[in-house]
Amino acid sequence: MTRELSKDYLDQLVADVHALAADDPNVWGAPASYIPELAHIDPAQFAISVALEDGMILSAGDCDVPFSIQSISKVFTLSIALGRVGDTLWRRVGREPSGNPFDSVMKLEQEKGKPRNPFINAGAIVTTDALLSGHAPKEALSEIIHFVRAAAEDDDIHINKTVAASEKATGYRNLALAHYLRSYGNLDNEPDFTLGVYYHQCAIEMTTVQLARAGRFLASLNDVPKLIAPAKVRSLNALMMTCGQYDGSGEFAFRVGLPSKSGVGGGLLVIVPHRGSIAIWSPGLDSHGNSLMGTYAAERLSRDLGWGVF
Ligand code: DON
Repeated sequence: MTRELSKDYLDQLVADVHALAADDPNVWGAPASYIPELAHIDPAQFAISVALEDGMILSAGDCDVPFSIQSISKVFTLSIALGRVGDTLWRRVGREPSGNPFDSVMKLEQEKGKPRNPFINAGAIVTTDALLSGHAPKEALSEIIHFVRAAAEDDDIHINKTVAASEKATGYRNLALAHYLRSYGNLDNEPDFTLGVYYHQCAIEMTTVQLARAGRFLASLNDVPKLIAPAKVRSLNALMMTCGQYDGSGEFAFRVGLPSKSGVGGGLLVIVPHRGSIAIWSPGLDSHGNSLMGTYAAERLSRDLGWGVF
């Protein structure tokens, strides 16, 4: 039997997550350790917000704690890039799931420097590079943060520079990917410049309330900021469904049945076409680098409310 969304429903979901963890603390998973600033975040945190068509937002848990959106930023940069360079982006980035981890270099050599999709790191670095061309890094970053603030209709959204610096200090994998891309002629700017913008976009911090609001433009709702053309909303949802969880995308589609994007900060943006946008945060991750309890909650909510698209 499907249930109705309500504040009580979300409070119960949060209570159930904490009850599971009380029985077995391992259910939280562990925060990302390769970005030192994220490694010491307490994994026992959980928040959920749902933004609906009528402007209503229902939330429960730690929904006023800002977290590092990390790869969820790739949805925003892709939205801006598709608006700016349009379909020419697809000459540089593919649209197929990779089946490899988000930071893998393997297919990049086999496929001559063209990343499989815009959500794996290599593809996101190319997308950011496209935004950077013709601009100073500061201008590109300012465009990104303004887009996010406009989507959320909230100016109180900022970049955590300590997190960006922390990732840069240990970002050997991304540096390798950027140099590799450049060697194939698929990076227009110097790796340090493109990665500088990329690390800062990943270090944007938002609460689940802000992220749920910011996701509404992808749900084709009326009365929300029209930030990109309807055809591009469709493309983004297709990419989120097939590639948004990296090598966990098939499993996520199977369990949740909704387009989504994850980040190693433990955030999850889930789009419910024509209904609303869901943001979930729990910092502990699974083996793909996606939020463990976030995925659990997305699956429960989608099943309980009958919101999956299949
Ligand atoms: O480039 C990185 O590795 C991070 N800034 C973002 C990766 C990420 O969020 C993967 N998501 N689950």
